Amino acid sequence: MTKNKSKKVSIVMGSQSDFKTMTFCEKVLKKLDIKFETKIISAHRTPDRMYQYAKDAEKNNIDVIIAGAGGSAHLPGMISALTSLPVLGVPIESKKLKGLDSLLSIAQMPKGIPVGTLAIGEDGAINAALLAASIIGITDTSVKKKLNQWRQSQSKSVKKKPK
Ligand code: RP5
Repeated sequence: MTKNKSKKVSIVMGSQSDFKTMTFCEKVLKKLDIKFETKIISAHRTPDRMYQYAKDAEKNNIDVIIAGAGGSAHLPGMISALTSLPVLGVPIESKKLKGLDSLLSIAQMPKGIPVGTLAIGEDGAINAALLAASIIGITDTSVKKKLNQWRQSQSKSVKKKPK
């Protein structure tokens, strides 16, 4: 396995209102010492920004994209259509349908263009970062080590008896 310091995760979200969820990705990536950037990119409000971002992602040293979106959540799928980098989708909990709309929009991609879909909300944001770490860990030994340490400490934190 080789160590590659240029590995980078890009966290994008459709709106400022998604940040309270997507910041959980940042927290996990910081703990694992993984470089990341965070941006607001909307598939419908800023389509040109989305296109340019996805087209430039690979040359900008991005290895994994985490895209959070709510409602008719087409951002992860549209980005995945524009780049062959792995795209992980986080369904944001929406006001009207509690994120079920976001989940189905992101998960139900027709064959040909995949999005790795996580759980709705905070759990999904945390797991997206952990899954990004697993992907990067395939070729980056230091990330793999950090991820395994994190998992071990999680196991240790689970008490054997309930109080
Ligand atoms: C989506 O619309 C965003 O991802 C967000 O979850 C949802 C609502 O956006 P705002 O109206 O709060 O900006 O594009």
